[in-house]
Formats: sequence, C-alpha cells, structure tokens
Amino acid sequence: MQKETPREERQRIWKGARKIEETRPMPIADIKSGSTQRIVTPDEELNRVLGGGIVSGSLVLIGGQPGIGKSTLMLQVALGVPAKVLYVSGEESEEQIKMRADRLRERLSECYILTETNTSKILTQAQSLQPDLLIIDSIQTLAAPHIDATPGSISQVRESAGELQRFAKETNIPIFIIGHITKDGAIAGPKLLEHIVDAVLQFEGDQNYTYRILRTIKNRFGSTDEIGIYEMQAQGLREVSNPSELLMSQTDEELSGSAIAATIEGQRPMLIETQALVSKAVYGTPQRSATGFDLRRLSMLLAVLEKRCGFQFALNDVFLNIAGGIRVDDPAIDLAIVSALISSLQDISIPHQVTFAGEVGLSGEIRAVSRIEQRIQEADRLGFQEIYISKYNKGLKLDKFGIKVRFIGKVEELYQAIFA
Ligand code: TYD
Ligand code: MG
Repeated sequence: MQKETPREERQRIWKGARKIEETRPMPIADIKSGSTQRIVTPDEELNRVLGGGIVSGSLVLIGGQPGIGKSTLMLQVALGVPAKVLYVSGEESEEQIKMRADRLRERLSECYILTETNTSKILTQAQSLQPDLLIIDSIQTLAAPHIDATPGSISQVRESAGELQRFAKETNIPIFIIGHITKDGAIAGPKLLEHIVDAVLQFEGDQNYTYRILRTIKNRFGSTDEIGIYEMQAQGLREVSNPSELLMSQTDEELSGSAIAATIEGQRPMLIETQALVSKAVYGTPQRSATGFDLRRLSMLLAVLEKRCGFQFALNDVFLNIAGGIRVDDPAIDLAIVSALISSLQDISIPHQVTFAGEVGLSGEIRAVSRIEQRIQEADRLGFQEIYISKYNKGLKLDKFGIKVRFIGKVEELYQAIFA
C-alpha cells in the first residue's frame, strides 16, 4: 500500500472537523475578548499555574525528569476533571495505568485509556471520541507513520507536535503533552516544542524528597510567575496549599548551619530552611556542593564572606542544601545562606524564631528585595520573632506586625548582630 502524504492523512482525520474559515483582517475593537473558555480542574495548584484552568484548544507541555511524577499528575487530572478525557499512553499498558488509577483517589471524570503510539491513529480515535481533554504520555513515544525516523527523534517529535497542535486548534480540544527532559534539561524534544505549544510547565523536585514544584516556563494565557506545590504520597500527589509550614525541617533542636529564609516563589511567600555544612577539607581540593541552589552563586557568596568578613572557607568543604529538595531562584535567599554558612563555620546555632530576607551584593552590601511586606507578614503569621532585612528596604509600615524587623546594610554587620 502506498503511504499517505501528511496532507492526505490530515484530510482523512479531520474530515468531520470544523472547517477552517477563511481568515481576513478584523478591527481589533470587533474581536471579542474574555471569550476563552476554561476547564476548571479540582486541582487548585494546576489551575493557578495555568492562569485559571485549562484553556480550550490549548496545547500544554508538561516537562520533567523521568520518575518525577508527570504521569501521576496527568492521570489525576484525567480522573478528576468533571469532563470526558482521553488519556493516551505509549509508555505503559492499560493494566499498569489501571493499577495506578486505583491508587489515586478522585474518580469524577468519564476517563478513557488508549495505549497507542501512532499519531494518526490517536487523532482518529480522538476525533471519534470527541473528549473535552486529550492527554498524551509522552511525546517521545509518538510516531507519525509517514516520517521515516525513530520515535523520540527530532523530526518525529516536531511532526507529532505539529499534528497535535493543528488538531487542538481545529477541534478546540485542549491537549496536555508530557515530555521527558534529562537532568540538564537539554534533550531536543521539549526544548524544540517550546515555541509550538501555548504553555510550558515544568515539574521538578528531588526524587529523594516528596515535594514537587510545578513551574510555569511559558504561558500564552496567564502569568509565568506562578508555581504549584505538591507532595508525592502513596495515594498520588497532594496539593500543598500552605507551603511555608511544610518546607521547614521538623526538628525542635537548634542546630548550627541552619537558617530560615523568607522567600517568594511565584506569587506566594514561603519560608524555607537552608542548611550548610562547613568542615575541614580532608582531601586536597576543598569540595563545593549545592542542592537546590546555584553553585556559582554559592562560590560568590563564599568569596564575599572571605573578602569582607575574613572568614576562612578556602580550606573547608562546603555543602549547601535547601530543605525539601526544592530549587529556589529568589535572590532574597542569599542572606539566609550566608547566615547558615557562618553558623556552620563557627558552630553557633541561629535561634529558630529568626528569619532572613535579603540579597547579597558583590561588595557585601545587603540589597533590598521585592515584596518585602508580604515576606514580613508571612514570617509574622508563622510566629517568627525577628526578621533581618536590608536597610535599603525603605518606607515600610511596620506597626501592623508583631515581629521585630532588623535592618542591616552589610554582611559584616550580620556577624555582629547574630553571632557575636
Ligand atoms: P510517574 O508519574 O510514573 O513519573 P513520570 O511519569 O514523571 O516518569 O511517578 C513515578 C514515581 O511516583 C514512582 O517512583 C512511584 C511514585 N508514586 C507514588 O509515590 N505514589 C503514587 O500514588 C504514584 C502513582 C506514584
Ligand atoms: Mg510517566
């Protein structure tokens, strides 16, 4: 049999689909706004990250390392939305998916499972089922039959994604596409897809910990400044609606090397514990290691502490860890990190009810950070008694807070204030 051309194949699949009307220029005033329809899922975290729910006809890529929980998240969505969902898996058998579904709690949708990797067969099935939502697990398993390349290769990924995009736009059915990325995020697939899809969500976390963060990398229908937080449990992913209380360590003891940062992740304030271990280097070259924090930034902070305060880190191994296995980008975490480093080096603990929010500059100055009042308020709410912030955060109304706000201008002053 002769192979269909992509065009013939598309025509066959979409024979029943809505005709594309000829497009012509429209006065902007005549274009209806606010007409985007959204499916609001029971998952508040996901709704927030998407900007208020799943937009009809949108194409959303969920990227993440293998084993992080992408299939679990999507199956939960597939089972939980009050709508008709088609979940297509090229990775697992129907039985495996069923077993996973049995572990999860929600069962509100009319959910169909299809194990298939042929893109045109998938779209034919979707066309006849007419679901309200289509989920593809994963883009790397798909193969468009008219392309001579292995699944997961650049040309297959690009072709399959293109077909899914046209399908979404023509039928108005939203599609979630799962894509695996490797540790450095470098694999061709998802990177290549970023400009094709409407939104890119990244699911991240450390596999040795239970917390997961869903971060918006791109969103045509909302802000990219949002995150969703989950905890992986035996019955699937649990939404974490109050992140601060969970992300701090559970010990009551005050240990050296630990300092708490008042950060803002996405739009939400979150108190996070930073942990440092500074110990004499036993082998020649001192080691530097950071989990959840940029290693180069750690080196910079160490250099500032050496130069400005005269601390000797050069002969020590330095390990840094953000509790909960999450990654923090907020520069306001710097001040807690330098405090944790000094605390470990000097073996003096920092009282539990103290927290920090400030960025450290190259000359050791503590720089003002954004939304400081929100941070102070969260620390206050959680019962902290002192917060150290930059003296350059001016014009604050502090009388409404019970917490004591301490202003500092340079890292040198930090030592005096806390450890001396
Ligand atoms: P999975 O969703 O398969 O990851 P991905 O699709 O990103 O590769 O999740 C894999 C891990 O999640 C696996 O190690 C088992 C764990 N898990 C739970 O802890 N609880 C659960 O309810 C489920 C379904 C999985
Ligand atoms: Mg999977």
